[in-house]
Amino acid sequence: QITDPFELILFGGLGDLARRKLLPALYLLHRDGRLGEGIICAVTRQQLDTDEFLARIEQALQQYVPADCLEPQHWQAFSARLRCVTLDLQQPEQYRQLQQALSSTDINRVYYLATGSELYTRICAGLHSSGLILPRSKIVLEKPIGHDFASAQAINAAVAEYFTESQIYRIDHYLGKETVQNLLVLRFANSLFEQQWNQKYIDHIQITISESLGVEQRAGFYDQVGAMRDMFQNHLLQLLCMTAMEPPARLDPDAIRDEKVKVLKALKPITGTAISDNVVCGQYDAGVSDGKPVPRYRDEPGVQPKSLTETFVAAKVEIENWRWSGVPFYLRTGKRLPDRTCEIVVQFKAIPHSIFPLQHKNTMANKLIFRLQPDEGIRLQLCEKRVGPGMSVRLMNLSLNPQDMRKVRVPEAYERLLHDVLSSNATLFLRDDELLEAWRWIDPVLQYWQASERRPEPYTSGSWGPAAATLLLARDGRLWEENS
Ligand code: BG6
Repeated sequence: QITDPFELILFGGLGDLARRKLLPALYLLHRDGRLGEGIICAVTRQQLDTDEFLARIEQALQQYVPADCLEPQHWQAFSARLRCVTLDLQQPEQYRQLQQALSSTDINRVYYLATGSELYTRICAGLHSSGLILPRSKIVLEKPIGHDFASAQAINAAVAEYFTESQIYRIDHYLGKETVQNLLVLRFANSLFEQQWNQKYIDHIQITISESLGVEQRAGFYDQVGAMRDMFQNHLLQLLCMTAMEPPARLDPDAIRDEKVKVLKALKPITGTAISDNVVCGQYDAGVSDGKPVPRYRDEPGVQPKSLTETFVAAKVEIENWRWSGVPFYLRTGKRLPDRTCEIVVQFKAIPHSIFPLQHKNTMANKLIFRLQPDEGIRLQLCEKRVGPGMSVRLMNLSLNPQDMRKVRVPEAYERLLHDVLSSNATLFLRDDELLEAWRWIDPVLQYWQASERRPEPYTSGSWGPAAATLLLARDGRLWEENS
């Protein structure tokens, strides 16, 4: 529970992330009576009067909160907790204006930096020079933190001048998704799977994050960043760590982070010519998405007409340790793919010999599928006998679906994580070394792409990405989950 009254200061307070995710999550926490006591202060460059400011937020909630959760009495009480502070982040002397909106004592105060990471150092310096960083203050840093190893290291070092590591919360919202936490429970609260969770029994693992959306209103940001930095360096590698890590000794932040860092350090480096063999990148062409014709990436407003930014990445990743030696992890993410899904598919090895006449032992191998979205749940695919004469075998699903079982709304990832920050629980946040290890592994790929002026392979919007992504698995005799 959030027992401590708080002040949450949102930098980028009316930006895309705040409107789409942060303010809706805060509203939902408030509505469910889980937001404790405190104020939310949106920092923005625009000069807005109170009515205009509240109208903008109400509009965002109407767009991004499920309609049956938007009740006038809750909105009224929530809006009374909102403040707006106008501030030019580049001007240190203007940070004093924040003081007027905040209490003068050292309370549970959270600075949430939902801005580009190039502003993080400046914001910290501005807060410091106005005396706004107190021993109980915390700071949340949104991803991507930096654009490569060196810049991430510089940001870590600069923020560390003003905040101790225990005050810093590096957020990756995929860790707040219900099924990711369920993955921890399934692996470490059951004795059933641990014996099988290794190279003896697992053939390979696939992790997919697909979106049907294109670049939307974020071209300015996205065109500079691309799928590798936007999704792969953080969300995909975090999901890989949660799937592959050794059992932590305790459910506490450092015990979990220690294990995740070990996985990142054990990733087999992909360098030189191995990059073209193991990493595929693509850019979407025109096509049909969600039933509507959509333009190619380069024709989206705000995108450079000759942009080489990748909107799709697939990679074959290996972990060099005893548990995972010889088990490939195939990771992919992309925009303008057929659906919005996120799945971790653990493909077990086939049985060594089948005694049943119609059972094809490879296609009937067991699978454990963690679905993070759109409908959260876990499915274990097992073989069973078809009812009736003979001995025909078929695959069936044993399903765990939190929504069906509990008939409750599954909280959004940001609800969980904002709640955790406000109650000082850092378990699902990244440590400084974890961030750097992820960049250390990605850097050679980014450098190679830049040096070789690589051209992303075009793929039709609404398809599953470039042909090379299919080949990446086909050459190992495997198929992506949606084709199997
Ligand atoms: C963000 C990326 O981190 O995650 C976006 O910057 C992406 O490009 C988003 O659309 C996807 O998040 P979710 O929770 O909607 O899958």
